[in-house]
Amino acid sequence: MDKRKRKIKFSGIGMYVPEKILTNADLEKIVDTSDEWITSRSGIKERRILEDDKATSDMCIEAGRMALQDAGLKADEIDLIILATSTPDTIFPATACWVQKGLGAEYVPAFDLSAACSGFLYALIVAEGMIFSGNHKKILVIAAESLSKITNWKDRNTCVLFGDGAGAVVVEESFDESGMLSHYWGVDGNLTDLLLQPGGGSRIPLRPENIDQDLQYLHMKGNEVFKHAVKRMGEAALEAIELAGLKRSEVDYLFPHQANIRIIEATGRRLKLPPEKVFINIHKYGNMSCATIPIGIFESRRDGLFEKGDNLVLVAFGAGFTWASIVYRW
Ligand code: UT7
Repeated sequence: MDKRKRKIKFSGIGMYVPEKILTNADLEKIVDTSDEWITSRSGIKERRILEDDKATSDMCIEAGRMALQDAGLKADEIDLIILATSTPDTIFPATACWVQKGLGAEYVPAFDLSAACSGFLYALIVAEGMIFSGNHKKILVIAAESLSKITNWKDRNTCVLFGDGAGAVVVEESFDESGMLSHYWGVDGNLTDLLLQPGGGSRIPLRPENIDQDLQYLHMKGNEVFKHAVKRMGEAALEAIELAGLKRSEVDYLFPHQANIRIIEATGRRLKLPPEKVFINIHKYGNMSCATIPIGIFESRRDGLFEKGDNLVLVAFGAGFTWASIVYRW
């Protein structure tokens, strides 16, 4: 039973990934690793890498244009842009400002939101609040990462895992049965040290002595993060299902954040879903942080993986730690 009176829904979806593909075989030439290790430990076969002269905003503009076209809207018809990213063009101004200009959405308010891998779901939850406030009607939500730019290509523990990409949706109020039925979100700020980019902010500014210690790169204690991710992803998914007033058996499709095939499969098992009901594209793109879920939704709609009325569960976990889950009726 749908507990909510009002809902938001996607009226357009877009995505962009860079053309350049970096395979596991390519990585074998850079660090001491193997296709066998990467595939069996993470499920990743290849990932996309953004060009040196491009930035996160360039991918956002491409994905955003596609979402606007899909929604049948011109850029100046949206009234807010929310951009989730942990790899902004610059610390300030917000990447959303370049995207606003690139799309030609003149004077439309635009801001960045930082929630790591949970960023797309956080941005949807914020967009829902903005629409329910009555102040906004058509919001462009973009989630994008160029993690290759903060990857330490000498660190085999991390450089094999990440990729670049952008996903975008236009959200509007829903006047039918489809849309966001529930959300659940949270943070555990005790565990910030397990996954972070230590340098570049006010705590550790970009100075030569910090750069000498590689602090400008992404650092992760992978096996620690893994344990928390498995636990939180399952719990968060179940919370959103309950908040939507659904039974676990009424879930048709799971969109887990694509960080590791073993985390994805564990979350599917927790929901007692057969493997074909769990979306996986990590083999093609690696971990694109907050961009994985909107790109997954774009691709599965394109490939006709679900039908009108299906109950989708979107769930993510990432640095912070942040987590979020949404039940969405297609
Ligand atoms: O996106 C949001 C959050 N991120 C995640 O959820 C990621 C969570 N973590 C993971 O996905 C996994 O922990 C990893 C894929 C990062 C690593 O898998 P693991 O099974 O946890 O391996 P490990 O870190 O415990 O390392 C096992 C061994 C180590 O060797 P020793 O110390 O046992 O001799 C590593 O040095 O594997 C070694 N290793 C590698 N070997 C070959 C680490 N990276 C590599 C590599 N190639 N690329």
